[in-house]
Amino acid sequence: MSSAMASRLKGKTVLITGASAGIGKSTALEFARTQPDDLKLILTARRIDTLKEIAQEIGGFAKGVKVHPVKLDVSKPEEIAALVGNLPEEFKEVDVLVNNAGLVKGVAQAPNIEAEDINIMFATNVTGLINMTQAILPIFKARPDGGRGDIINIGSIAGREPYQGGSIYCATKAAVRSFTDSLRRELIASRIRIIEVDPGQVETEFSVVRFYGDKEKAKKVYEGVEPLTPEDIAEVVVFAAGRRENVVLADALIFPNHQAAATVMHRKTT
Ligand SMILES: NC(=O)c1ccc[n+]([C@@H]2O[C@H](COP(=O)([O-])OP(=O)(O)OC[C@H]3O[C@@H](n4cnc5c(N)ncnc54)[C@H](OP(=O)(O)O)[C@@H]3O)[C@@H](O)[C@H]2O)c1
Repeated sequence: MSSAMASRLKGKTVLITGASAGIGKSTALEFARTQPDDLKLILTARRIDTLKEIAQEIGGFAKGVKVHPVKLDVSKPEEIAALVGNLPEEFKEVDVLVNNAGLVKGVAQAPNIEAEDINIMFATNVTGLINMTQAILPIFKARPDGGRGDIINIGSIAGREPYQGGSIYCATKAAVRSFTDSLRRELIASRIRIIEVDPGQVETEFSVVRFYGDKEKAKKVYEGVEPLTPEDIAEVVVFAAGRRENVVLADALIFPNHQAAATVMHRKTT
């Protein structure tokens, strides 16, 4: 007997950006665990070899899940423009878009923020997410009743609450929040669901990327605290997609137990 959530997800095609690691990878696995018999996953990221390994892993436990890995850099508009046209016929009817690809670079403060870091954060977190949305929305809008489908944007507590050393990242996530809220209003006459999931602290490759590959510095971020796991966020994303069609989980803020704000954490000292 399958759960209500499994039957609601049956036959759906889900596209995830940034599916090679962290929250995106966990989301791919969680969708496959929830509906292992009849689901299609389009997994995108820059690391295509990793996506192929994830596809294999899914094939090992979810025989009814078809996976299509695609090399995609969301910061390159031309790659997004080519994406939909190049999808195999059986993957073209996307039902759920998870806009997850995103990153933070450095902790520099103005006026010392590298131009390259500013550009990559905006091009990935903001322009990439907007371009992906614009590429997929026509598929949704072609459906009856003004359109149908889910857009799930991964924002952040950083989009709600700016903090020192995160000005650009916070600005990008605030932009995601504004774009998401505008979109929900603009699509009010459709059945398209616009969903934002804002994690607090999650332990992924995120901090390693922030510190330009320095794993020691990244480890310090999590000293004395118990961060969320990427699976914790994946469960919320799949839960949102698996609600009854008339239910929109519009906005979710998720903290680990020791966190109450971007910079309010309880750290245990040994
Ligand atoms: N970890 C946290 O504490 C936290 C908190 C709040 C929000 N978030 C948000 O959660 C999302 C996922 O982050 P994460 O924590 O899972 O980090 P992660 O482990 O570093 O994963 C980031 C993913 O994004 C992909 N990515 C990065 N740049 C890309 C680009 N230009 N084009 C396509 N894919 C790209 C990476 O894949 P490739 O390198 O293979 O391209 C990777 O799969 C981000 O939007 C992040 O801002 C994270």
